[in-house]
Amino acid sequence: MTFSLDDDRDIETILGTAPVVPVLVIEQVDLALDLAKALAAAAMTTLEITLRTRAALEAVKLIREALPNLCVGVGSVRTPAQLNAAALAGAAFAVSPGAGPKLLDAAHDDPLPFLPGAATASEAMALAERGYTIQKFFPAEPAGGTRYLRALAGPLPELRFCPTGGVTAANARDYLALDNVIAVGGSWMVPSAAVASGDWAAITELARAAVAIGQGRAV
Ligand code: 3PG
Repeated sequence: MTFSLDDDRDIETILGTAPVVPVLVIEQVDLALDLAKALAAAAMTTLEITLRTRAALEAVKLIREALPNLCVGVGSVRTPAQLNAAALAGAAFAVSPGAGPKLLDAAHDDPLPFLPGAATASEAMALAERGYTIQKFFPAEPAGGTRYLRALAGPLPELRFCPTGGVTAANARDYLALDNVIAVGGSWMVPSAAVASGDWAAITELARAAVAIGQGRAV
């Protein structure tokens, strides 16, 4: 266990202070630091690096060492081994698109703050039985978007969600306006073309607008 930002921070604190979380797919580790700096320049404090590329864990380590004030989580965690690898890389939290029993058992035994995913009332209730009152809602738009989340609030008032998957600058405000949404995640402020071409100014600009949405400001 190497993360040290604020070891006592839980998912509620992490998401409660980061209403918009950039979800990153890092293909080239040598671009990771510039990308993180572009986001930090926009006052982004928290980001999620998905385990969808070979570069992901190395990118987490690099960013944690160079920018220790950034809260760097690992996303797309599907297995206990990946959860363990996330902790070893220095991740401050872990996110899963879903929640298999083996992964939940491993998360129970791991101090790394964990955000499991649900897309139905039954999945959300199963996670609540395990104590997860904050869950990722994934994939948010295909699963029903804000209407679906609003409908869950009645029967599941104790649960709050971080919707991701199809969240954009155009709909993030609508999600954040819901009482059962603590934060949103998305990749809209990190277009892959801008990352590939090293257009960090464009990413900072998009990230600034995303931060403003999280703060409820007009952009
Ligand atoms: C995630 O892993 O949370 C999502 O894939 C992000 O979805 P987006 O790319 O549609 O924002």
